Order: sequence, then structure tokens, then C-alpha cells
Amino acid sequence: MRRPRLLIPLLLVAAAGTATGASAAAPAPGAPAAATPLDRVVPAPAAVRPGGAAFTLGSGTRIRVPAGSGEARRIAGYLAGLLRPSTGFPLPVTTRGGADGIVFRLGGRDARGLGEEGYRLTSGGRAVTISAARPAGLFHGMQTLRQLLPAAVEKRSRQPGPWRVAGGTILDTPRYAYRGAMLDVSRHFFTVEQVKRYIDQLAQYKVNKLHLHLSDDQGWRIAIDSWPRLARYGGSTQVGGGRGGHYSKADYREIVRYAASRYLTVIPEIDMPGHTNAALASYADLNCDGKAPPLYTGTKVGFSSLCVSKKLTYQFVDDVLRELAALTPGRYLHIGGDETHATSHPDYVTFMDTVQPLVAKYGKTVVGWHELTGAHPVKGAIAQYWGRDKTGAAERQRVVDATQHGTRLVLSPADRAYLDMKYDKDTPLGLEWAGYVSVRRSYDWDPGSYLAGVPAGAVLGVEAPMWAETLGSSANLEYLAFPRLAGIAELGWSPARTHDWDAYRVRLAAQGPRWDAQGIDYYRAPEVPWVGR
Ligand code: ACM
Repeated sequence: MRRPRLLIPLLLVAAAGTATGASAAAPAPGAPAAATPLDRVVPAPAAVRPGGAAFTLGSGTRIRVPAGSGEARRIAGYLAGLLRPSTGFPLPVTTRGGADGIVFRLGGRDARGLGEEGYRLTSGGRAVTISAARPAGLFHGMQTLRQLLPAAVEKRSRQPGPWRVAGGTILDTPRYAYRGAMLDVSRHFFTVEQVKRYIDQLAQYKVNKLHLHLSDDQGWRIAIDSWPRLARYGGSTQVGGGRGGHYSKADYREIVRYAASRYLTVIPEIDMPGHTNAALASYADLNCDGKAPPLYTGTKVGFSSLCVSKKLTYQFVDDVLRELAALTPGRYLHIGGDETHATSHPDYVTFMDTVQPLVAKYGKTVVGWHELTGAHPVKGAIAQYWGRDKTGAAERQRVVDATQHGTRLVLSPADRAYLDMKYDKDTPLGLEWAGYVSVRRSYDWDPGSYLAGVPAGAVLGVEAPMWAETLGSSANLEYLAFPRLAGIAELGWSPARTHDWDAYRVRLAAQGPRWDAQGIDYYRAPEVPWVGR
């Protein structure tokens, strides 16, 4: 889906100079805090026109939704649930007409050109109105509204307010349709509740894809009825030898449902033919020599391979993909394909070329790590690029050539977008094989021009992977994700013309008190002028 251009120019002129003009100046002691400027949000909105009276949320404020849209009502209910504890206001959701309060509008003149996900937010004396063509737009607009309220609104106990929203208009549509985050639940298992917590965090930054890395050498995390030992045995441990775990089908459906309620699509990954020790350990017959290796709890990569010459291998893959496709309403299945150092190149090509049609057979679109371009990507396939600045020219060129033949790209350069890389030498968690990735480094690149020669339109978007070798808890995950996740989310959403590190770091700093209020232990990067510290 291309970004609708229609309405953007209307506000462009007004927006010039505001997107980069944010200042971190603190209010004078005793003065009421000024309302957050409309452009001090992450991701940066496409266009902002500040001005006019502020809106103040009060004890009588209602949230008005159009009659006949269950989704609008549900989103309004979610917003009310977020705002009630800190404001103490009842914030009833109503379909009764009226032009005051928080007003959600679906369709109509104001929604023209906003596409699937865009929104218009207008704040004035009596109302904040969010208009969208589709419910996803209302949801994203609602997330922007959260950021325009004081950070204390995120607390779960009653706060004094006042709850002002600056006056003006935001008109906002995404640059890319694919704005993803990946969570590796194989190296360490994350429970359904932990995944839901991360989903809520991703949704705040308008991320709309959750890629779950469901299998690897250390653990198989999804129940497959036709191969029950995969999860029961192959999921029984994790890095370091802990207990591991897996999702039952009901668990997985619950994750999919919850993600959808936050406008994220789940993209499940079964990594093949390498990264398969957990499967090979579960079924001896999957091994070329018929012998099952032991379970693996270390952190090496590239030592396992499915047996490419065995017929049973493809029955196995077919069964897994069939069951996974049946659980997955989204259109994508990720088949991995990275780091196959234990598979010969001809075997790799045979395997990937045999397996891709199985994804299509179950009505889904192939996603693979960019090594897929070394086989023959099927029509419509998506390659996820995880190379680095120093990736060799031949490997880059292979990816670029594939895009010239129709393969589309999701960009996750490891030395930019990998959230599990250490920030610097002192970071207590994470890995460093792709180098240290500072907050600036993760933000300061352009997905549109990152790989020279890729046709415009071949870049579907960006994704921030989080590998979990060193992560034992949500707190560990959040320390590496925040603040870098916000930067990758912005690269996916905001127009290239808003890209500016000096302005971004000020907008990012304003997120700190929100994360504090939400109990997120983020990394206080010295590059960012954090507020109130
Ligand atoms: C990867 O980092 N092996 C995709």
C-alpha cells in the first residue's frame, strides 16, 4: 500500500519549521506545565499545524463514537481504560451525538485520503476530534493523543492534572505499510502475558507487525498436533538450561487476538533448514543418520540442518506450515533460511525452492531472511535484509537484483535495527557481533536509500528484531528495546523529510517520563536530553 499523498501538501507549508522546532526548555518553577507541543510525539507526524485554544480533559468529558462501529467503541473503551486511573474521570463512551469531548469519527469528508491507517487529530477549546477512514487510523490517532497529554496520565494512580492538549491539527499517514518488531521466544521463552505487554508497548509507536521467532536450536515454541514432541520435548528447555515452554494453540490464538486488538498482525517464523536442533532432537527420523541429537542450551549458531534429501522432511514442513497457516489470519509465514552453515548451497537451494510453494499452498505469502535471495524467491516473496554496513558487495547485489525481479524487502540491518546489540561496551545485556548500536546509530539511517539500486516501492518497511540469548525477563527486553524501538518505529511511520536527529532526540526525551510512569526500565542514553533527570 502506498502512502496516500492527497492531503499532505495542504498542511505541509504550515508544518515546515514545526517538526524540527521542539525545545526541551523546562517551565519556570511554579508555572503550570505547558501542554505538549503537537509535534513532540514519536513517530513524528506527517504534518502539524499548531494553534488555537487548548483542550482540557475534565470530569465531564465524554468519549463520543459513531453508532454502528464496534471497533470505534472498543478503541474508545481502551482509551478510557488508560485514562481513568490517573485522571479519576469517568470518561463514559457514548454514541450520543455532540461536538464536545473526545470525538471519534469514521469516514466522511475529513477522512478522505487517510488510507487504512492515517488519521486527522484536531484539538480545540471544546473537543479533540480524531477522524479516520478505518478503525486502525482511529487507533493510531488515539495513541498520538496519549502522547499529547501529560506523561503522568500513564500512571495507574490518581494524579492532579491539569490534562491539557495543545490546540491545532495533526494530519498523519504512514510512510510504510510494514512496521515490524520481532521477538525471539526460542532462545528464552516469553509467556503470553509477557508478549502482550510487549504488544502494548509496540502499539504505542504504531508498529503494526509482530514477528514471532517460534523455533530455533534451543526451543520449539508452538504446539503442532501432528508432531507433538516438537513442543513437548523440543520446547522443554532454553538457553542456559532453564525450563523453556511453548504456546498451546489456544495460547497462540490469544496472542494473535490480542495483537489484532492493538492493530498488529502476527507473523510466525519457523526457521529452516538451519536453526533446527530442537526439531531434530525431537524426532530422530528427521536426521539424515536417523539419530536424534541432544537438546541444545548454548548460543552457537549454524550447526544444525534438516535433512534435505529425505522425503519425510517435506512431509514435516508441510504439516507444520498447514497447522501454522490455519492458526494465522495474517497473510505472511516466515520460513527463516538464515545462517545455514551446516547445509550445502545446492541443498539450501533445493530446500528453499521446495518449501516456498508449500507456503503458497496454504494461502500465505513467503517471508524469509535475505539469504532466500540465494535460492529462487517465489513471486511475491519478501526478503528480510539483516546485513550490515560492511556486508560484502556480492551479497548486497544479490538482494538488489532480487528486488529488480519483484522480491520485496523488509529492512532490519543488524548494525542499525537489531535491538539486542549492546548500546556500548558497558551494556550489561545483549550481544555485540554486529558492533555497538547507539540510539543515534539505530535512528540515523534511511530505509528508502539504504540499499542502492532497490526500486522505489520494493521496500515494504522496517523491522526491529530482538534476539533473546541474553534476555531472561521483560525488564531485560525493555532495557534493550527502549529507547531504540521508538526510532525504528519512527523510520517506518514518519516521512523522510521529518528525519532529523537533533529534533528526534528532544521528542524522544519526552518519552522518558512516560516510560517511567509505565514501569519501563529504559536505557538512559547519554545522547538524549532526558527530561527531569
Ligand atoms: C539472523 O540474525 N541470523 C537473521
